[in-house]
Amino acid sequence: MKVLVATEKPFASVAVSMIREEVENAGHELALLENYKAPEDLYSAVEDADALIVRSDKVTSSVIKAAKKLKVVVRAGAGFDNLDLDACTSSNIVAMNTPGQNSNGVAELVFLLMLHHLRHGFVGQSGTELRGKIIGIHAYGNVGRYVAEIAKGFGMKVFAYDPFINSFEMEKNGITACRDIYQFYSCSNFVSLHLPVTDKTRKSIGYELLMKMPPHAVLVNAARKDIIDEPGLLKVFEERPDFSYLSDGEPESKHIFVEKYPGRYLFTAKKMGAQTEEANINSGVAAARQIVDFFKTGNEKFRVNK
Ligand code: 3PG
Repeated sequence: MKVLVATEKPFASVAVSMIREEVENAGHELALLENYKAPEDLYSAVEDADALIVRSDKVTSSVIKAAKKLKVVVRAGAGFDNLDLDACTSSNIVAMNTPGQNSNGVAELVFLLMLHHLRHGFVGQSGTELRGKIIGIHAYGNVGRYVAEIAKGFGMKVFAYDPFINSFEMEKNGITACRDIYQFYSCSNFVSLHLPVTDKTRKSIGYELLMKMPPHAVLVNAARKDIIDEPGLLKVFEERPDFSYLSDGEPESKHIFVEKYPGRYLFTAKKMGAQTEEANINSGVAAARQIVDFFKTGNEKFRVNK
């Protein structure tokens, strides 16, 4: 079988070697398409592939149409909003993700963003510290759990809001479980967002919630930008000069932040949370193993389409 790794933002080379080893040791062939610039490059590369590994690369209905032999696509990572699941299902293609494999990298980036911001970019100006502050983790999933553990190491008080997780599970990890979302926002000095994008969560973080946050509040988004209601966030920025927003990846309205709110935002130019050797190895090798196992035994454990 031919396994294509197609990454517009490439894995670390050590991860590619390890993916290759998994695939070739199982008797399959590996093809690589890295740093491609146009979707057409992916259309032609995927033509004769039996399996596809991607990151945030868009697997649209056009990609699926071009992929005449494709049986399985694995998103090496957590969020699979880049996969057209209906198109996969109609073409009998199994779509999977690799949950949890790159979570620590994303969690570490949350602290990098906060520390960089609190120290004003390390240009000599006096800053503030994390110890003793409250971090509110919105969605206590794989990344949220790593954020909670690291936050405890910094001496932060950790609160979490997640209607799908039992309070007991959070409390036993030393976290204060909040059941009222407005109360949760009103007591968190920092809110770190870890929600997936769904019809319910899209644009769900906006004016009403953010205005509840205490003075000098910081919103950190290492999840998808789609969960933010940007007009609502900009209204908060307009009304509250004490409010800051840090995000992995740039918002649509970046130019407004740049023009009007210097010192109150920090955006990575590309999504960088999972851009570590460790995250690349963990998620890339997991993807390769899931494909090998799928061809060998039909295992669909991490399937995300119906
Ligand atoms: C994910 O959903 O796993 C993260 O956003 C990482 O995405 P990336 O692989 O494109 O860096």
